[in-house]
Amino acid sequence: MRSGVVQIFEQSDAIKRLPEQFFAKLGKRVRELIQEGHDVINLGQGNPDLPTADHIVKALQEAAEKPINHKYSPFQGFPYFKQAVADFYKREYDVDLNPDEEVALMFGSKIGLFEVSQCLLNPGDTALLPNPGYPDYLSGVALANVTHEFMPLLEENGFLPDYSKISEDVLQKAKLMFLNYPNNPTSGVATKAFFDDTVALAKKHDICVVHDFAYGAIGFDGVKQPSFLASEGAKDVGIEMYTLSKTYNMAGWRVAFAVGNPSVIKTINLLQDHLFTSLFGAIQEAATEAISGDLTYVRELVDIYEKRRNVLVDSLRKIGWEVEAPKGTFFAWFPVPNGYTSAEFAKLLLEEAHVVVASGDGFGTLGEGYVRLGLLDSEERLREAAERIGKLGLFR
Ligand SMILES: Cc1ncc(COP(=O)(O)O)c(C=O)c1O
Repeated sequence: MRSGVVQIFEQSDAIKRLPEQFFAKLGKRVRELIQEGHDVINLGQGNPDLPTADHIVKALQEAAEKPINHKYSPFQGFPYFKQAVADFYKREYDVDLNPDEEVALMFGSKIGLFEVSQCLLNPGDTALLPNPGYPDYLSGVALANVTHEFMPLLEENGFLPDYSKISEDVLQKAKLMFLNYPNNPTSGVATKAFFDDTVALAKKHDICVVHDFAYGAIGFDGVKQPSFLASEGAKDVGIEMYTLSKTYNMAGWRVAFAVGNPSVIKTINLLQDHLFTSLFGAIQEAATEAISGDLTYVRELVDIYEKRRNVLVDSLRKIGWEVEAPKGTFFAWFPVPNGYTSAEFAKLLLEEAHVVVASGDGFGTLGEGYVRLGLLDSEERLREAAERIGKLGLFR
């Protein structure tokens, strides 16, 4: 080959199977508008807007000075962090966990959701995914060359899957099921009874349940959101993923954990022993600080989101957009007005009102007809977003 000619190497089949990264695509046009000097209100993404609490940042600063944290941290993490996770689950959910066998630490839950397909599935196996759902479930499954079946999340069922509508054939084939409550994008919430039913279904059909509890702490109107693991027998059939990204405003820190079924945790740990040594020790110390002791500051954060929710819902109702108040997460999932697809409506809001919302179809075919708005800006900006949308005159 002549020097100076840059060879283009072909992507592997696994990479070619990956769907388009929805959030990466969303950002491009927004950046352009900002560069053109527009005042854009970005309610399109799931990146918490508030800073990490001071005591957690301080814990990181102090921990960063300790030489022990300058070395590789132990494979699978420091025992004190895993013990703190077990204590946290006992305190918050009355769930007993063995820190050595039932806790795996991760660089954020996104990677964990990816790993689980690699850990448990072979090409041709079947996974059950929510539709609409967090797009990365599909990415992990696609990379593992696994077949998937969608479980519809319909408004009339409170955005919970109706297990009685899944065919016996699909249930026989299914090896893995992804669930996520409080739910992104629909903001639907689960009950303990729903998780009890899930355990029974999983036992009957030998399905491993992966419950993504990313928004576990963010429930409104005084309702504490149940952990899947608090249902009897849940640990026999599944795991729960818990991230510090949302509850603790620590999205940039990349720290999460998986808890539950020891055979699944062991396999995740085994895979991770090959992929990584564990998280930076100082992050482990700061994360331990975050989940230990008095969690009043978390409840204060949830109050902030609840107030923002109320402002957004009231302001949108004022402009004539009939929306239901979300019960959890920091997202709102609203129907688009007649005559628009989700993408058309999101584009109109972006171009004409400079308000970014996520088009529902990016979360699956059954997201069509909805848009997702994040409660990730101040009450004032949310009010302004509603006013700008109102000026388009679509709802009266
Ligand atoms: C439902 C859900 N799961 C998982 C994640 C990933 O979170 P992280 O990788 O920051 O832990 C997100 C982030 O947006 C999410 O919305």
